[in-house]
This record gives sequence, structure tokens and C-alpha cells, in this order.
Amino acid sequence: ASPDTRTATGAETGAGHEAREQQGAYLTTSSGTRLHDTDHSLKAGARGPTLLQDHHLREKITHFDHERIPERVVHARGAGVHGVFVGYGTAGPVCKSAFLREGETTPVFVRFSTVVGSRGSADTVRDTRGFAAKFYTTEGNFDLVGNNIPVFFIQDGIKFPDIIHAAKPHPDREIPQAQSAHDTFWDFVSLHTEATHHVLWSMSDRAVPRSYRMMEGFGVHTFRLVNVEGETSLVKFHWKPRLGVHSLAWEEAQLLSGVDPDFHRRDLFDAIEAGAFPQWELGIQVFPDTPEQIFEGVDLLDPTKIVPEELAPVQPVGVLTLNRNTTNYFAETEQVAFHVGHLVPGIDVTDDPLLHARLFSYIDTQLSRLGGPNFNQIPVNRPHAPVNDLLRDGAHQHAVHAGVAPYKPNTLDGGCPFQAGADMGAYVEVAAPVAAAVKERKSPASFEDHFSQPRLFYRSLSPVERQHVIAAFTFELGKCYEKVIKERQLQVLANVDTELCAAVAAGLGLPAPGSTVPLPEVTPSAALSQLGKRWPTD
Ligand code: HEM
Repeated sequence: ASPDTRTATGAETGAGHEAREQQGAYLTTSSGTRLHDTDHSLKAGARGPTLLQDHHLREKITHFDHERIPERVVHARGAGVHGVFVGYGTAGPVCKSAFLREGETTPVFVRFSTVVGSRGSADTVRDTRGFAAKFYTTEGNFDLVGNNIPVFFIQDGIKFPDIIHAAKPHPDREIPQAQSAHDTFWDFVSLHTEATHHVLWSMSDRAVPRSYRMMEGFGVHTFRLVNVEGETSLVKFHWKPRLGVHSLAWEEAQLLSGVDPDFHRRDLFDAIEAGAFPQWELGIQVFPDTPEQIFEGVDLLDPTKIVPEELAPVQPVGVLTLNRNTTNYFAETEQVAFHVGHLVPGIDVTDDPLLHARLFSYIDTQLSRLGGPNFNQIPVNRPHAPVNDLLRDGAHQHAVHAGVAPYKPNTLDGGCPFQAGADMGAYVEVAAPVAAAVKERKSPASFEDHFSQPRLFYRSLSPVERQHVIAAFTFELGKCYEKVIKERQLQVLANVDTELCAAVAAGLGLPAPGSTVPLPEVTPSAALSQLGKRWPTD
């Protein structure tokens, strides 16, 4: 066996030995030949014409012509920073992962993002924010690819292209840039009532954060943890910001989009430069791993549902400190490749159908975005654990693999048989039963309630937060041209809360419909109201 040379040290990741300073006394070609001039092309006489034989001119222009790679199909606009994660050891009873052990320090790279806008769009738009963290653990990379909103628009990943097509600018004119201020978005969400919970969050102050440093983060899906005894639990991951949760007022967000479109990126960079390192606690809500995977009536496989913290408190398991800015935006923030399938022993996936589509989608999109199958060799993506993957060749191959037998077992490269079980630190999937009937294109009945939790969210907000939600619906739906779409969305709101519906209808100058579903009383959840929210563990 011949472990390749891809293990990177902390210093090498992103800004290390491959980050050539390019400050030497001599300018060279990319193949290292010293140049005497880079300001004048080679010409036949001072007045030309330019000669085709100028290989330096051709190399310089050709490389420039290919500087851009495709931006991400979603989450194109982002800001990345380095940090460290320190485990508290409190996750031990439910999770055996090494990075969660008490005092274990793990390098981390985090990328915050908006979802819909292109790479050059404004930071302070109304949108969901991505919160993606790559932990370079001793057992391999673990990526927690989450958002600042704990639920998602759809219950099945097969609909992801559809919701994104609806949220992106119209195909004919490529406007508007805003996610929710147009007909296709409201057409989609009013026809797919499973989106209602996410839409409520999107119309709340959560969708206009004051700073990346002041956002919560959520893994959204339910994951399955395994402890050293092999016992399993179901969990939801939460990031709780030490600075508390704060938002911009809508008017501030709009002004900033014009005055400083880089507001969030600048805020993060400046804070770290000034030594004001933002911190988050990672926490878990833990549920018993029962066969039905339902907790207090909530289907844990439904990504449009939360579990109120009153029913399952968030238990802190470690702290993240972001403390180092990137050296090169392209090398690190643009080339980082997150993937929900980057798991380590102790953390497994559940059968959430949204998560399963994601398990395919990230690696697939990165194959084209990052130009081939070797993007895990890019410094920012390299694991800090030994790599021995039997993957060979391909575009942009950096490893010089030794040996002749890239297969296991073999008798030629040391002859070692392939053996790896949980006792050898290997990743072993938890065996889980599947339903008797397979091959079905349908959702379970437990996915059918689309209104109770949006109602819970709205009822949990303070009066001023509710006013902001009403104003947001009125503003965004007011941009919609088609009356029939506005009316359909008002019907959705009537099924959430009749007062909310009446206020938005009045703002739009339309009649308010009555609800078509029962509107049960809900007990507000303190954790869902944003104002005055803190995470006091210091
Ligand atoms: C990118 C979160 C659902 C496909 C991202 C990123 C985040 C994220 C944070 C940005 C990663 C980065 O900074 O590089 C989520 C969350 C989801 C969700 C929390 C639902 C709970 C989905 C689904 C799909 C999908 C269902 C597809 C079926 C993608 C793709 C990218 C992306 C293709 C671009 C990745 C790249 O080019 O590197 N997502 N996503 N996402 N997501 Fe998702």
C-alpha cells in the first residue's frame, strides 16, 4: 500500500507552501524561465505588427482568459474564514467522533453565503444564508453544510431544481435578482404548501441578518449518531452565536445594498482583523432512535419541521472560534468543496429524502465546477488525516502515486489484505431497516401537515417581529404581477394565521380569504423569537 502525499498540515491548507508569494527579484514564465520584460509584446519593429511567436504574450493572455470558473449554481456569493473547534466532551454518551472529545482542537473552514444571488450580488438581500463548516478532523473531514434557517422549502430533493428555478431570476430577462420579489417564486411556494414554514422564516427578520457573526446555524436534517458502544441516537445540529441573534431593519438592509454591497463580507473580515473573533457553540438536540423516527408527533425525516427547544433542549458539545482570514479568496473560499457525504465515524445520515438528493448533488456539481474528480487535492479541501483512496489519475492530479496495484487485496504492493472495521477506526454505516414496499414515488402521511409549524413560528414572534413579517409579505408579494398568484398565497396565509392574512391582504388591496384548515391553538416557543435572544454560557 502506498499512502499518497495529500495530507496537509494546518499551515499548508489554503495559505501554505503551495501559496507561492511571487515576490522574488525575478519575474518568470509559469515554467520558471526568467523574463526580462512583461510590458511589451514582441513586435516586428516598435510599431508592429505583433509576432505570433511571442510565447510569453500567449501564455499570459491564455491564462488570463481561463481565470474564471463557473460560480456555484446556488450559494454563489459567500465569505470564508478559518477557525478552530474545541470539543467539550459532552457528546460522549451519544457520539464517538474524535473531534467532539473534551479539549480536542480541530481546524475548521467556514463559508457563509446567500443562496440565490450571483457571485457579485449584494450581501444584505432578503434570503436564506448558508453556514457551511468543514472540520479537518483526525478521522477525516466532516462537513456540516447548514443554513441559518432550520427548515427547508421542500421535503424531497427531486424538487430542488424546481424551487431554485422558481427563485432565480426569470429566464427571459434575468430579473429580478431578489429571491422572493417575483411571480415565479410566489407561484411555486403557493402551489407547494410544504414551503410555507420556510417562507415564514424568509419573511421574518431572520432573512436579513445584521452580521454573519450574529446568525444561528442549523444542520436542518436529522442525523444519526453512534457512541463507542454502538448505540445510536437521532440528532439535529445547531450553531448558537455568542454575540446573540441580530437582524437589520428592512430599510437598513436596502440602503446597505446600495451603499455597501459587501457589508457582511467586510464586517466578518474586519472583525477578525481586529481580533474580535466570533464564536458559536455547536449544540445537539437528541432524540431516541425509535423505528418510526417520530418525536413528540414531529416526523424527524421531514426537513420542513423543527423540534421546539422546549421539547428537546439544545445541548452544547463544543465551541467554534473563527480567527483567521483567507490569504486568497479564489484559492480558499471559491475552491472549497463542501459535501454532506463528508462524514466521520460516529455520524451517519438518516433517510430524509432531501438529504439523500444532497448526498448525490454536491460531488456531482463540484466535478464540473472544479474541473474534474481531484478537487479534494486542492489545499483547502485536503483532509488532515492520511489518504489512501485507490483513486487514480484524472484531470489536475497532484499526487505522484507509487506502487503498481491500486486495488485491494493485492499481493504486489506489500500484500496487505484490506480489513477495516469500526474497531480499526473505520467508518461503518449503521444498519437500518427499510419499509417492506420499495419503489414508491410518494411521501408519507406524516409529511402532510404544512401549516401547524408556520403557525407556531408566527405565534412565537413578538408584536414588532410580526409587523416585520406582515411588511415583508406585503412588499414582496406587491412585486408580483399576477393577481391569481397573490390570491393563492393569501389563501396559504389564511391557513397559517387569519390576522396575518388580513393584514397582508389589506396591504395588497385584496380581500382576505378564510382558512380552509383547522387553526389549532399553539404554545409559542421562546427559542423562535429573535428579539433579545442570547446564548448565555459564559
Ligand atoms: C451549496 C446548504 C439543499 C444542492 C450549498 C451551500 C450550502 C448549502 C450552505 C454552500 C456551500 C458552500 O459554501 O460552498 C443547503 C441546505 C439544504 C440544501 C442547508 C437543505 C437543507 C440542497 C439540495 C440540493 C442542494 C436539496 C440538491 C439536491 C447544492 C449545490 C450547491 C449547494 C449544487 C453548490 C455546491 C458547490 O458548487 O460547491 N448548499 N443546501 N442543496 N447546494 Fe445545498
